[in-house]
Amino acid sequence: MKKFLVSGGVPLYGSVRAQGAKNSALPILAASVLSGGVVRVHNCPRLSDVDATLRILEHLGCKTERVGDTVRVDASAASGSEIPDALMREMRSSVVFLGAVLAKTGSVRLSNPGGCEIGLRPIDLHLDAMQKLGASVYDEAGRIECAAPRGLKGARITLSFPSVGATENIMIAAAVAEGETLIVNAAREPEISDLADFLNGMGAKIAGAGEGVVRIMGVKRLHPTEHTVIPDRIAAATLLAAAAITKGEITLHRVIPAHLEPVLTVFRQCGCEIGIRGDSITLSAPARLRSVKTVRTMPYPGFPTDFQAPVTALLSTAAGTSVVIETIFESRFKYIGELIRFGAKIRVDGRMAVITGVDRLVAAKADTPDLRGGAALVLAALCAEGESEIRGIHHIERGYEAPDATLRELHADVRCAEADA
Ligand code: EPZ
Repeated sequence: MKKFLVSGGVPLYGSVRAQGAKNSALPILAASVLSGGVVRVHNCPRLSDVDATLRILEHLGCKTERVGDTVRVDASAASGSEIPDALMREMRSSVVFLGAVLAKTGSVRLSNPGGCEIGLRPIDLHLDAMQKLGASVYDEAGRIECAAPRGLKGARITLSFPSVGATENIMIAAAVAEGETLIVNAAREPEISDLADFLNGMGAKIAGAGEGVVRIMGVKRLHPTEHTVIPDRIAAATLLAAAAITKGEITLHRVIPAHLEPVLTVFRQCGCEIGIRGDSITLSAPARLRSVKTVRTMPYPGFPTDFQAPVTALLSTAAGTSVVIETIFESRFKYIGELIRFGAKIRVDGRMAVITGVDRLVAAKADTPDLRGGAALVLAALCAEGESEIRGIHHIERGYEAPDATLRELHADVRCAEADA
C-alpha cells in the first residue's frame, strides 16, 4: 500500500492541464461494446477505475489498448453477457455496463456490489427502467439478471430522482431499442451530454441530453467512432482548491469553465479571485479565506456532491463558521474524522457538517476512507505546516490522474512512498 508524504504550508503556483473526466470515460467505454468495431477514446484519463473498466471490456470479448491519452477498444468480437463478481467488486460503477450488455447480447448477469464508502448505492431506478424497456429483471441477494431476447422497446421513463447512472444506462440501452424512449427528470450533468455526443457519434439519435427530458429514437445498430472526453470538472476544482487552501495562485488549462460554475461561485464567496480566458481558469487566493454560510450539494447544475469533501477541507481554514449539507449520499462525511486530526473543528449532525474555521491546520497522519475524502485530506496536508502522511492513496488514484506528480508541477512538496506494513 502506498502513502503520500506531504510537506505543507507552501503556496501552490504555476499551471497544469486538467485531466479527462472519469465520470465521462467510464460510461463511454462501457457503451463502446455496442460499436461493432474499433472505437478510439481520446483524453481518457489514466486512472485505476479506467483500468478496471478495460478489464471488464476484455472479459466481454473486446480488445483494448492505450496509446498515450487515447484508449482503443475493438468491440468486433464482444459477446459476453456476464460480469463476474470479482470484477464488479473492483469498481461499483461497473453497473453502467448493465444497459450496454443487455442491449448488445439480449441478456446481462452481474452482481450488485452493494454499498461502498459513501452509501448503499441502490440500483432500483436502473432495474425499473430496464423493465420498462421490456426486459425481464431478476434481482435476488445481490444477483442481477436482465433478459430481453426479442430486443428492447422504447418507453417513457420518469425517474423519481435524476440519477446519473440510471440516465446513462437508459440512454445506452434505448439507443438501439425499437421506437422512441423519453427520459423524464433525467440527470443533467455534463457527463450525460458527453455520453450522448459519443452515442450520437456512433449513429444514435439522442436529443435533449443535459436537460430534464431526453428523447432517444432507437436505431437498428451503431457503428464505430472516435471521441474526445470532456475535462474532469471535479479534478479541476480540486486543484483550484489546492491553490486556495495554500494561499497560492494557479492556472488550469483545457477546462470547460461553465461546468465548474457551481464551485466557482463558492470560491468567489471565499474571497478568491477567479479569472476565465477561453478554456483556462486562474484562481488567486486571498490572505485569509472567508466562510460560506451554506453549501448544499444538489444534482447538476447545483453544487456537486463529489466536491463536498474538498470544499469542507477548504472551509475548515476560513474565517468564521460554514455549513455544508450533503443531500445526495447518506454517508459521505466519513473523511471528517480524519480531517479533525489536522486540527479542523467540525461537528457533524446527520447530513449537516458545521465547520468552525481555524487559523491554521497542523501536520498529521491520516487514512483515506474514499476517493473524494482522500482528496480533502491531501488539501489539509498541503495547507498544514510540516510533514503529513496520507495512507491508502489507492482510493485517490481511482479518480485523480498522477495526483502527486500533478501537485509537484504546481510546486507542492508531495512524495509517494511505500506505507509501513
Ligand atoms: C455518479 O454516481 C458518479 N459516478 C458519482 O461520482 C457522483 O457522486 C454521482 O453520480 C452523483 O453526481 C460515476 O459517474 C461513475 P446517482 P451514481 O445514481 O450514478 C440514489 C465520484 O466520486 N439512487 O446519481 O451512482 C443514490 O443512492 C463518484 O466520482 C437510488 O436511490 O449516482 C444516491 O443517493 C461518487 N437508486 C443518489 O441517487 C438508483 O437506482 C445519486 O445517485 C440510483 C441512485
